[in-house]
Amino acid sequence: MKKSWLVGLVGLLLAVALVACGSADGDGASNGDSKESKETLVMGTSADYPPFEYIDSAKGDDIIGFDVDIANYIADELGYEVEIKDMDFSGLITALSSERVDFVLAGMTPTEERKENVDFSEIYYTANHMIVSSADNKVASPEELEGKKVGVQLGSIQEDKANEIKDGGVGMEIITLNRIPELIQELKSGRYDAIIIEDTVANGYLKSNDDLTGENLPNTEEAGSAVAFPKDSELTEEFNNVIKEMKQNGKMDELIEKWFGQDTVE
Ligand code: ARG
Repeated sequence: MKKSWLVGLVGLLLAVALVACGSADGDGASNGDSKESKETLVMGTSADYPPFEYIDSAKGDDIIGFDVDIANYIADELGYEVEIKDMDFSGLITALSSERVDFVLAGMTPTEERKENVDFSEIYYTANHMIVSSADNKVASPEELEGKKVGVQLGSIQEDKANEIKDGGVGMEIITLNRIPELIQELKSGRYDAIIIEDTVANGYLKSNDDLTGENLPNTEEAGSAVAFPKDSELTEEFNNVIKEMKQNGKMDELIEKWFGQDTVE
């Protein structure tokens, strides 16, 4: 009789000890000293931009691409987890300034106008503007946009570029859409005469669409991509350090080769 009572008591004590241990563990986790406690950074992007960020439906429904690999590498080096939020490109700056995302990787070019609202890392990849048109009806220069229907991505620097050309005296109709694949579709179906997008992205589409052709806009300033952050974010410097490291240790070249060195758009 007495013995079983003792066993019960010991059992009870053990149970109490275990519960205590469990909650101690839980506290430990939130103190940031165990693996599961890694802080998650929310990355904003516009996954319409192969090979920077896109969904390859043949492979699954994850967002993949050059920018995603860069984000994961940097986060890994700094000890963060990354969660990706997909939205329209034109909403990314607001998402940063309202701190709904911690950083943006979206092939975004650091412009003076954007710098009024967000901070940028150094540039990690450069690009130029390209006029993409139908191979049968090639638009080979900005002057030839005269009288044409021209598509650009809403909120992109290519939209600014188109307006600049128009203000310079080339009469054309500019149409803005949110997503690059939609621009490509409109062009292929003949509803637009041309679109202006980045050569790095255009090249992927040109490789897999014989009916399209491209011509770089002459004498335009290079348009590079950088990571964007809310103003005064501490992440800017942390990310810059890793970007420098990636340029030196060959990681950036390896990722450029992986994403731009082959056909990636079907
Ligand atoms: N580089 C251009 C800009 O900053 C276009 C970027 C578009 N990016 C995207 N994920 N759709 O305006």
